[in-house]
Amino acid sequence: MRAIMITSYEGPDAVEARDVEEPQPASGQVLIDVKAAGVSFPELLQTRGRYQLKPPVPYIPGSEVAGIVAAAPADSAFAVGDRVAAFSMIGGYAERIAVNESSVFPLSGDLTFAEGAALPLNYLTAHFALLHRAHLISGETVLVHGAAGGVGTAAIQVAKAFGAATVIAVVSSEEKRGVALAVGADEVIMVDGFRDAVATLTDGRGVDVVVDPVGGDRFTDSLRSLATDGRLLVIGFTAGDIPTVQVNRLLLNNISVVGVAWGGYALSHPDFAAEQWSALASHISSGALRPPIGASFPLERAAEALATLDERRATGKVVLEGI
Ligand SMILES: NC(=O)c1ccc[n+]([C@@H]2O[C@H](COP(=O)([O-])OP(=O)(O)OC[C@H]3O[C@@H](n4cnc5c(N)ncnc54)[C@H](OP(=O)(O)O)[C@@H]3O)[C@@H](O)[C@H]2O)c1
Repeated sequence: MRAIMITSYEGPDAVEARDVEEPQPASGQVLIDVKAAGVSFPELLQTRGRYQLKPPVPYIPGSEVAGIVAAAPADSAFAVGDRVAAFSMIGGYAERIAVNESSVFPLSGDLTFAEGAALPLNYLTAHFALLHRAHLISGETVLVHGAAGGVGTAAIQVAKAFGAATVIAVVSSEEKRGVALAVGADEVIMVDGFRDAVATLTDGRGVDVVVDPVGGDRFTDSLRSLATDGRLLVIGFTAGDIPTVQVNRLLLNNISVVGVAWGGYALSHPDFAAEQWSALASHISSGALRPPIGASFPLERAAEALATLDERRATGKVVLEGI
């Protein structure tokens, strides 16, 4: 089968399309014919060897897929021909993949395979972050950084679906403003001067939750934008720099900085992701959770797909399709 492989740590341009052996499903695994694969920031980091998960090269990257079941265990909830989405962690940029059944989810016929491939990583992360880590309360106000990106658009939709009264999106361009509005943000503000804009929009009160997949130099102003009892969710560092925090700020304002590592949590709690998928299912059916597909590439052009994330050009979810 055809697959994309990381063969060195020289960045996204260095990924290679190769012919490789088809995977053989182990006990408890579902074999999936991949129709679409999500392109995610962790894979970009992996091309440079800068992600916490660093398998020996060469290997096939790809955190998430959607496709059709080609084989399933005899006692499986899935049968050959079922439409599914799956969180694979690696291996998704390929024509076929074998995934543990606990990380395979039913995919409604209302969604395209591209939309299905865009759901597992970002929407389950957003749900874990907002509901399990920040304990979002109905009626709260949520600020989302990187709001036109994959995690950002998911966080906007999950926050609204689970009761946030107001979602304020932070973006860096007019094009990205349009993306954030289209997925349901109530307000969109530019990253430059966002702290003053938040103060104006909240009458000086601040927000209850900040979703931060970006990090970098905006971190302190994010803390200053929190209301009393506010929580800042540390999700990623697309800006490059890992911020530090002076903990007196937390004490003085009764605020919290909360770490979020969904993948590690889901892998060590095998039933968790399926429970989350069930919690999201009615919102997926209603259309409240519907990933925006910003760009689609054939498998062989994975390097170009990864470059859109690297160059800060990606909006919504980037996918590989027609696999
Ligand atoms: N903790 C977890 O469990 C978990 C799970 C999934 C993903 N993540 C992490 O979440 C982060 C976001 O992933 P994503 O898929 O949403 O990425 P994405 O679609 O590329 O979006 C990232 C956003 O970051 C902003 N950004 C600021 N500076 C940037 C820079 N120098 N380069 C690129 N983007 C920059 C951009 O928004 P503006 O241009 O509007 O500023 C961009 O839209 C990644 O670090 C990823 O590893 C963490």
